[in-house]
Amino acid sequence: MTDYAPTPEFTEQAVGQASLYDEAADHEAFWAARATEYVTWSQDFGTTLDWSDAPFAKWFVGGELNASYNCVDRHVEAGNGDRVALHVVGANGDDRTITYADLLREVSKAANALESLGVTKGDRVAIYMPMIPEAVIAMLACARIGAPHSVVFGGFSSDALKARIEDGEAKLVITSDGQFRKGKAMPLKEAVDRAVPGTTAGKVLVVKRTGIDVEWDDERDVWWHEVVDSASDQHEAPAHDSEHPLFILYTSGTTGKPKGILHTTGGYLTQCAYTNAVVHDVHPETDVYWCTADIGWVTGHSYIVYGPLANGATQVLFEGTPDSPHQGVFWEIVEKYKVSILYTAPTAIRTFMKWGADIPAKYDLSSIRVLGSVGEPINPEAWRWYREHIGGGSAPIVDTWWQTETGAIMNSPLPGVTTLEPGSSQRPIPGISAEILDDEGQPLTEPEQVGYLVLTKPWPSMLRGIWGDPERYKDTYWSRFGPEYYFAGDGAKYDADGNIWILGRVDDVMNVSGHRLSTAEIESALVSHPRVAEAAVVGASDETTGQAVVAFAILRQDGETGGAEGDELIQELRNHVGQQIGPIAKPRQIMIVDELPKTRSGKIMRRLLKDVAENREVGDVTTLADSSVMNLIKDGMAKPSGD
Ligand code: PRX
Repeated sequence: MTDYAPTPEFTEQAVGQASLYDEAADHEAFWAARATEYVTWSQDFGTTLDWSDAPFAKWFVGGELNASYNCVDRHVEAGNGDRVALHVVGANGDDRTITYADLLREVSKAANALESLGVTKGDRVAIYMPMIPEAVIAMLACARIGAPHSVVFGGFSSDALKARIEDGEAKLVITSDGQFRKGKAMPLKEAVDRAVPGTTAGKVLVVKRTGIDVEWDDERDVWWHEVVDSASDQHEAPAHDSEHPLFILYTSGTTGKPKGILHTTGGYLTQCAYTNAVVHDVHPETDVYWCTADIGWVTGHSYIVYGPLANGATQVLFEGTPDSPHQGVFWEIVEKYKVSILYTAPTAIRTFMKWGADIPAKYDLSSIRVLGSVGEPINPEAWRWYREHIGGGSAPIVDTWWQTETGAIMNSPLPGVTTLEPGSSQRPIPGISAEILDDEGQPLTEPEQVGYLVLTKPWPSMLRGIWGDPERYKDTYWSRFGPEYYFAGDGAKYDADGNIWILGRVDDVMNVSGHRLSTAEIESALVSHPRVAEAAVVGASDETTGQAVVAFAILRQDGETGGAEGDELIQELRNHVGQQIGPIAKPRQIMIVDELPKTRSGKIMRRLLKDVAENREVGDVTTLADSSVMNLIKDGMAKPSGD
């Protein structure tokens, strides 16, 4: 068996050493030391953790800081203004280099511009942008002022954007005229124009990215280049309380309504910077780091913006997609910028595998020394391919388990310490405590027993709640096993070596290409179509995307009939979901059925639908009200629909 132990050379230079595990025995002292090591405070904190109002934590109580100052100004003050912060790789061949001194000027100007538009501390700002540097600048400008940002993934629909603007009561939306997709200019502001009317957002700030025609509302719309470029490049970063809200990020839960996950400043920044340093092994003076996530997801927040910038790292910011202008573009970028740390998702790795190892083989990838994986379990085969064909057979892979809610990495190997186990995120990092519980809430200790992953101690970057819904926060995360356990929603088991294997979600949440989607949200999108009476959605396993959305729909017999039929109707329903939520939520397949399998109490048995969707023998149907339903569905399934 191959031994994936770190080499002595790697261990010697590693940021994260084994002694951290010992140090973490004193939980609060450990985190207080990390907060001092990784963050510059304007006002020192007193108590490290106040858990008296559990599950609402306060970390680094009384401390004051500015996240934007920590990510930008202090590096310039330390004499590193000439260091590249962002190698911007545009989707249109228009690359740019932004140093830390440039970033300071741009963030200061943007902060002044936001203030001139009336944004003040505490106001929420929605950001709906492609992967352009202005997105990063906008987030840091908001953080500087103390106006929590709510970044909405640019692939979400205008309806999804509207719901998020409304829930967070955003005062301003920042967007761009359009975005480049596979070399073509596509609209973006258009969705904002449809989302904003009737909401609290009185102003829309627009970056000109593509130059495509846009509708313009003189009262409401403002060009970025008009207000930001003319603003002063001096802006004093005020100190904010450690617990001041930094951002809201919406994520799917088990109901149709997305949850606004709230993160605050001091604890979040501490854990992002610490984990980026010890897990990705970032040496800011020499490394070129590249996280391929979109800033619309938590990975982009923590491991493009806050972690690496707090550490003063040099990174690549890529606007494009892995297949444009060609399937070797990732490796071309690695070669050109000598990327040494690459952090990406299993779905991308499996796609590269499908395209073939001969593509990366054409490029010089010898600069790579650490690889990371995030978003879903990585299958051992993809892990080995990644190590072999991208990591030169020797780069450690850090498989990092965490969530929007946890804010930063929780389980992961340390690349200079851990003997790697392909497919497992292995164990909690120093400072984090996890257990696996059985149905009754008893800790599992034996290998191969399947249970629920829980976190047993508060951690600095933990969510502070769900925006506007404290009860839902308690119910969702702190009630399944009692108030002392954070329930992560993932199934897990130990192996004989004590490694934790994440087995996927145990709730009605799917993971498609590392993105979280809720079955309930897609079901409610489907039933909002006039032809659909009832719908059930399951996540079926998919070779490339991990899971894929498969829907079962019953059509209405009354009222509105006529219109499209057959494949045309299915296409219409898929597009409808795309419109309601976004293209990522479009079902891979939609089955029109006459019945859905239900228990006698009327609950849809998704487990059985999943069996069908994954072409398995259908499981136990004894609790079904009408067991013949499954045969009907299976017969229909023989002829798949959709594309
Ligand atoms: O099921 C786990 C899976 O992704 C979920 C969190 O999704 P989200 O909040 O969108 O954040 C994704 C980026 C951190 C988890 O509950 N997940 C994430 N990383 C891993 C993972 N499953 C297994 N291994 C991982 N490394």
